[in-house]
Amino acid sequence: MTIAETSPSRTINIESLSFTSGAHLLLKRALRDLPVGGRLGVIGSAPDFAVHLRGWCREQGHEFVEGDGQFVAWIVRGAASQGRWRRAERAGLSEARENGAVVECPPADWGFAARGAVIEAGGPAFHYPIQTKERVWAENVTKLYAQAVAAQWNPQTAINWDEPFAPDEEVERAVAQVMTYLIENENAALQAPARFIAQIHPHFREVLQLLAVQIADEARHVEVFTRRATLRGEEMGLSTVSGRQSLKTLLDEPDFALASFLLSVLGEGTFLNLLWFLERHAPDPVTRQIAGLVAQDEARHVAFGLGHLQYQTASDPALRERLATAITRRHDELSQTAGLNEEVYDALILLAAGSWRPEDIAAGYARAQTLKDEMHSGRKARLEKLGFSGAEAADLSALHTRNFM
Ligand SMILES: [Fe+2]
Ligand SMILES: [Fe+2]
Repeated sequence: MTIAETSPSRTINIESLSFTSGAHLLLKRALRDLPVGGRLGVIGSAPDFAVHLRGWCREQGHEFVEGDGQFVAWIVRGAASQGRWRRAERAGLSEARENGAVVECPPADWGFAARGAVIEAGGPAFHYPIQTKERVWAENVTKLYAQAVAAQWNPQTAINWDEPFAPDEEVERAVAQVMTYLIENENAALQAPARFIAQIHPHFREVLQLLAVQIADEARHVEVFTRRATLRGEEMGLSTVSGRQSLKTLLDEPDFALASFLLSVLGEGTFLNLLWFLERHAPDPVTRQIAGLVAQDEARHVAFGLGHLQYQTASDPALRERLATAITRRHDELSQTAGLNEEVYDALILLAAGSWRPEDIAAGYARAQTLKDEMHSGRKARLEKLGFSGAEAADLSALHTRNFM
């Protein structure tokens, strides 16, 4: 193939290449840099090439001029192929310039287009209720996503399910009760963020990617807690009305910021203390190992919730008041409920005691009390990170659901 420059015309010899073998690629490439009205002389020897070239020119909006001498034809470049992209815009900067790529308020009709793509004007209307960077972004989102992907673990191989231990039958039942409670919380943690994924503009892809992995994390948590509950043939324990009432308020919260706050900052934050407690005090190595792995995941979920709300409160300080109101409202909504069921709390004590000996029970009881204190100070610290004063944080933490999550 040769292209000769005889401005404003050029010529191309595509030899015996036909339209059924990709001739259009070479023609398009040769026409690309010609101005509208510029001429391209085409030399080619494929059978019936002139007939096919004429059809192609009609389809592409170029003029076909009968050739002379060595030329099969002259193509006069038309304007149609340019017009289609005349009002196209780029969806943020190109990915090669990642730092500046995310725009504050991407138009909804960019839809699923890759960030950085050139977007043809028009097309279907998309509806994204969560459409601004302020409402979803976190400075740490890219780093958290990379960490989340690197830290995925396989429940089958990451946990030593066969590690021997000889459980006391009642302690084992307490473990099954705690697992039953954890699974219920995990189901809430899986579905509450899932509600928002399709509401967030795909331009903020790191947020979607991170939430998708977070949901996959919760799926694994449901699996491992289920396997542990029934590992030694125990039945699942109890699920209470008050537990379900508390968790349902998380699923019912329609505002992304408030839902992240109640679920990730307060709920999963409190849950983190519970997991660390299980990692330290569970009576068997399998439960301790599970709790440790799950806690690593939950720490990321909390970090994103915090990071995102820090980002949003930086530009919208009034959000803080709405967060405080959300805690109070949820507290009032749940005030007539029993809070954490006694069986779960007693199971935690017995699990941390490891036996029915009175001195062990005393130790288990003290550990469970310490857990409550740690949960409170953890919540307080996280609230302070969002800009609440020490006194406000203490008051708000005290209003958090007694169900822990
Ligand atoms: Fe989880
Ligand atoms: Fe979580």
